[in-house]
Parts: sequence; C-alpha cells; structure tokens
Amino acid sequence: MQNTTTTLKKLFYLWRRSQVPVKPPIKISRIDNLIIFLICILISIISSYKILLTSPINISDIFSWLLTFTEILISSGVLILVSKKENPTISSRQIFLIITLLLAVQATKLTLSSTISPLSIIIPPALIISQGMGSITALAWVSIASFSWPDPAVAINHNLFFILLVCASVVSLLGGRIRSRAQLLQLSIFVPIVSFFSQWILIGKDKISLINNQDFVLANGNIFSDSFLLAIVMLFTILFIPIFESVFGLLTKARLLELADKEKPLIRRLSLEAPGTFEHTLLICGLAEEATRMIGGDIDLIKTGSLYHDVGKLHAPNWFIENQDGSKNPHDELDDPIKSAEVLQAHVDEGLKFARKNRLPKLITNFIPEHQGTLKMGYFFQKAKEKNLDINEYYFRYKGPIPQSKETAILMLADGCEAALRAMNIHASDEEALKTISNIIYSRQKDGQLDDSNLSKGEIFLIKRAFLNVWKRIRHRRIQYPTNKNNTFS
Ligand SMILES: [Fe+2]
Ligand SMILES: [Fe+2]
Repeated sequence: MQNTTTTLKKLFYLWRRSQVPVKPPIKISRIDNLIIFLICILISIISSYKILLTSPINISDIFSWLLTFTEILISSGVLILVSKKENPTISSRQIFLIITLLLAVQATKLTLSSTISPLSIIIPPALIISQGMGSITALAWVSIASFSWPDPAVAINHNLFFILLVCASVVSLLGGRIRSRAQLLQLSIFVPIVSFFSQWILIGKDKISLINNQDFVLANGNIFSDSFLLAIVMLFTILFIPIFESVFGLLTKARLLELADKEKPLIRRLSLEAPGTFEHTLLICGLAEEATRMIGGDIDLIKTGSLYHDVGKLHAPNWFIENQDGSKNPHDELDDPIKSAEVLQAHVDEGLKFARKNRLPKLITNFIPEHQGTLKMGYFFQKAKEKNLDINEYYFRYKGPIPQSKETAILMLADGCEAALRAMNIHASDEEALKTISNIIYSRQKDGQLDDSNLSKGEIFLIKRAFLNVWKRIRHRRIQYPTNKNNTFS
C-alpha cells in the first residue's frame, strides 16, 4: 500500500513538473567550452614544456613532462568544477577570467620569476577571484598557482613558499567576506605588512636566501621592496576591480552594498512613484533577511535582491493594490480578468527591462521573475471562472521560472506572507501568526514552487520561525504606548 502511495506521489510530481515551464540551466556554448579547453591546454603546455628542453632528452623526461602536463590539465578541470559548484550560475565569461588569470600567472612566472616576488604574482589575482567568485574557488586557484612552477631550474625558498601559501589563503578567505572597498584597502596594507615581517623573521636572518637570486626571493633580494611591490599591485588590483565587475559580470559584496543604497535612482523612483510598493519592499527585506540569516544564506544578496524584486510595478503603479490608497481600482473598470492577468505578468517583464536598462547583475535580476515563480493569479482566475470564460489555468500563471536558489525561494515566501502578516490583528497570538505563515508556505510547496530551490524541511521550519520573529517585532512596533498628558517628556 505504501509503495503504491509513493509511486502515485512520484507520478503526480512528474506530471506537475511537466506542467511548469522550467528555466533551462545555464549552458555554456560549445565554442566557449572549446576556448576554455584550449586555454587549459595552453596552461598545461606553458607549465610543463621546460622539462623537455633538457638535453639529452630521455624517456624519463618525456614521462615526467606527460605527468606534469596531465596533472595541470586535470587541476584546471577541477578548478572549473569547484567554481561551478560554488557558483551554480557562473557564466563562461567568469570561467574565462579564472583560467586566463591562471594562464597569465604561469606566463609571468616563466618570464619574471627571477625578478618579481611570487607574492606579487599570486596574491592579487587571488583577491579578484575571491571577491568575484568566492573563497573556495580562490583557494582552489591559489593551490594550483602556488604548487605549479613552470621552470624547474628555479628553486623556491621553503619559508617564502610557506608565507605565500598563508598570505594567499588569508586573502582568499577574507576576500570572499569583505563588504566594502575601505576594508579592501585595509587588506592591501595589512597583507604586505604581515608578509614583510614574516619574511624578515623567517628569511631575513638567512643572509644567503636574501642575496642569492636563485633562491627566488627577489626585487634584488630586498624584502622591503618585495612587500612594497605587493602593496602597489594590490592597490592597483582594487582600483581595477570595478572594471572586472562590469566586464566579467562579477558580483562582489561591495557592489551588492552599493546597489542596496536607497538613494539609487531606481529605488528612489520606486519610493516616490509607488510608495506602497516601496513600503512592501522594505517589509519583505526584513522578513527575507531574518530568514536568510537563520539558514545561513547570503544576506547581502537577498537584501539587494528584495529591494529590486518589484521595480517592474513602476510601469503602472496604481494597478497594484498597495498603491491604490482607497481610490478606484482600475481592474474593476477594465473588468477583463485576462487583461488584468497580463498587467500582473507585466510587472515581471517590465522589471526585467528595468534591470537590463540599469545594468543590474544577473544574480539580482533573477529575483524579479523567480519571486513570482509560476504562481497562480488566483483572484483573477476565480473571476474568469465566475464569468464562465472557458480559459486554461496556464494563462493565469506567472511565466516563471520557479525559484532556482534558496534566496529567491525565501523571497517568494516572504512576498506571500507579507500582506497576510500586515493585515493580521495586533492582538493575534503567536500560534495564529505561525498558522498563517505555515499555510502560505505549505500552499507554495504543494504547488511545486520550491522544487528547484534546494530548501530542506529543516530550513523551511527555520524560515517559518524567522517570519514569526519579524511578525513579533512588527506587532511590538504597532502597540501604542499609553501617554500621560502631564508627563510628555518622560
Ligand atoms: Fe511581485
Ligand atoms: Fe512583492
């Protein structure tokens, strides 16, 4: 009996999925794949060809070359896989950036390894990758760039290698968390100072290492100029990060916070032309932020994403209930449920146009269609049924896609709960509020809207608790304090 129920459930699930237009996963074109593969081959050749330059060449040299070549090729492949795992929506442009930086570093090692410190070659690119693609990708990149040296004739000082690994790992870890340009500047001063003192302690006392160029400590064996060069290169890197952001579509924390500025023209327009939507947006920000914090998601991403999720309503603010302010509802005058459904869908389509015009990053743009998913416009569908219109439910559903990430799924749930929580009586109990939240979330789940979001049952439980906490805060704010006429200053 249980097996039959499970099979039926599975069949029902497959049928439901076939009814929903699903967003195709980000595909990298064949040409892009070919170019990426060729760059990886080039990196492997650059990193290994010097082994074949020894004369006379023997079988063991060829074997050693083949081993190094394959090792680098596989490592590059693993690096791409790690970056895809950490950033499921990574684009081919961003993969180009990661491997081109690896290619550039290997080429620089070949030409300048005896004049430039390895710290200045490896740490600045690690900062770009950690800022744009996250700490894990940066750490994977650093391990390949640090362990593979194209010229076997250049010996690496062990202490310097250790300092390089530690500094590059610290930059990779901190780079992924840093939230402002000011903190980046601090890092670009802090890391060279730490590298200077650690080189002074670990290498400085060893005079041979300092003087001998072959020991790979350079800028003429001067630790100070090494660290100074590192600081200069890091400062230049920070200066160029905004260019990398726009050329490669990177979304750094600093860029996210800049976009979340409420003085941005598009947000300013929303607050002036659609004040109801703006208020709704702020409340959703609070709900979504609390829930994302609870499940350990990307808070900066959801804060910015929720700010822009309904910008499409700017195309016709008074068609949305929150902006009507008691005036006439244009939908009643229109009296056509199909046209009304089109106006609702337009807030997604127009939102995407606004996003394109304002060059919003892809991860932020995703919030616009995914917060509505393929939800049914129940009110207008019901109206169509009342009018006996023979119409398919499909025309009363948003075009989707359904949420593809935990963050966009949380926004959809917050969007659904906001109006219900706002409308609740301030004397309602926690149990009543939790029941309302649970019902809304359950209806979204049952409708298949959370199927692609990867939210676990435990996380959904935490989201409900987070929404309840925010509701308690709202209720607290709405309770009026008793005022004493004789004591207005207390
Ligand atoms: Fe919306
Ligand atoms: Fe909304």
